[in-house]
Amino acid sequence: MTSFFRRISFQKTKKTPTAAAAVAVPEEQEEEEEEESPLPTPQTQTVLLLHAARQPYQLTENYPVPQVQGEHEVLVRTQAIGLNPIDWKAPDFNFAIPELPYISGRELAGEVVQKPNEKSRLKARDRVLVISTDYRDLRKATYQEYVVAFDYNTVRLPPSISPEEGSTLGVAFVAAALALGVCMGVDFSSVLDGPDLFTLVRKIAPELLAEDVRGECLDGIAGHERAVAGDWLAIWGGSSTSANLTIQLAKLAGLKTIAVVDKAKHGLRLANHTSIRTDLLVDSHDPQRAVDIIRSNLKGKLRFGIDTRGRDTATTLLQALSPSNLATPSLPSAAADETADVDAPPSPPATPHDSTQLSAHLIGLTGLPKQSAPEGALFHTVPIKLFHEVPEIGDALVQWLERLLAQGLVAPPEIIDVEHGLGSINKGLDRMRKGEISGGKLVVRVA
Ligand SMILES: NC(=O)c1ccc[n+]([C@@H]2O[C@H](COP(=O)([O-])OP(=O)(O)OC[C@H]3O[C@@H](n4cnc5c(N)ncnc54)[C@H](OP(=O)(O)O)[C@@H]3O)[C@@H](O)[C@H]2O)c1
Repeated sequence: MTSFFRRISFQKTKKTPTAAAAVAVPEEQEEEEEEESPLPTPQTQTVLLLHAARQPYQLTENYPVPQVQGEHEVLVRTQAIGLNPIDWKAPDFNFAIPELPYISGRELAGEVVQKPNEKSRLKARDRVLVISTDYRDLRKATYQEYVVAFDYNTVRLPPSISPEEGSTLGVAFVAAALALGVCMGVDFSSVLDGPDLFTLVRKIAPELLAEDVRGECLDGIAGHERAVAGDWLAIWGGSSTSANLTIQLAKLAGLKTIAVVDKAKHGLRLANHTSIRTDLLVDSHDPQRAVDIIRSNLKGKLRFGIDTRGRDTATTLLQALSPSNLATPSLPSAAADETADVDAPPSPPATPHDSTQLSAHLIGLTGLPKQSAPEGALFHTVPIKLFHEVPEIGDALVQWLERLLAQGLVAPPEIIDVEHGLGSINKGLDRMRKGEISGGKLVVRVA
């Protein structure tokens, strides 16, 4: 038994009790020491390996348990894994696979078995959610029984959240928070002391921001263009998990929201939902009609759009954004009247927050229009790697999510179904390929 299990570092040194201590140590303190001591960890585990593109993942036993390195890494035992579209799209379309054989998986809930350092806010046996955006480091992939994570990518779960629920929301939360906070400049400091990411990224030395996201982080949106409470945001693909978390966070920050969805499929659920009911729900079936409905309702007040589906819908969403001359080269004067702020007085005073003079901002989670951004609009991609590459950002996000979950301000998305065992992941991904998982998450319970 002892040769199979190895004790991991940071093991609490058991003090030899002195006569005084033998009397003084209260029972709760002993329990606390027991709770903080690292858990036994096997040397090998079962993982899912991808050996080539367009092949199923292979269940593989006797694979080494990943080793922690450095002061920020924690080892977590997997309990439930949330499946993401990238997990089937990457092998099917042969992208985002940096090496073979590859281990996939972006998020899980589990139990801390080894904490990173004595000062860490994490301790052994903590129930946590791990968000693994660092897909190039196979030790951090979640399709395995033990996973390494940065402490600044690990969120403690409150007792009210089950492992299955905890495994559903990590990637979507990070994408939503960065889209809103960095690309749109939303300040979350009034929401349980959340991060002001616009300011935070500007405090990071520019050379510490990866070159491919530096422009988005530092020049993506100007200070006077930032989204503030009362501004409108339209989300095309409102049934997705990333839309779910985006709507929740946007509403907490006081934005007004529009979801474009297949209303026959999702309308009733979304219209009656406690946390993701939007101010306007628009049917996606006829895209041009959806654009017309948004434009006639918003009358030039919509500057922010997030698309979660792909290039085509992002291109359509662009037409709904204002200034409304984005879709057509010139704006006829009649149409200009239509775009005037509905609440504005007949002779509007010169105001710097006139939405018709500010740029439109389109964020693509899955793709952006092929054309370059027309005058008056800016395109954005979510700088997701900030989460694992910049500890200050990761830390700000995970500690905020801990508070949001503990206070019940953010709710996990619906669980559509739960599969059991790492071996069932291929089946789960097939269900996702067929479009069976809609309006929520498929979760795999592992232990
Ligand atoms: N850039 C980033 O950093 C980032 C981060 C997170 C996610 N993403 C991307 O954003 C997109 C949404 O991710 P998500 O996790 O929010 O998605 P999700 O929760 O899995 O939802 C996607 C939606 O797409 C539809 N759908 C389901 N299966 C499908 C299939 N086989 N083919 C076409 N449509 C299908 C469903 O909506 P309906 O039933 O209503 O059609 C479903 O609600 C994905 O492409 C993902 O890769 C990007």
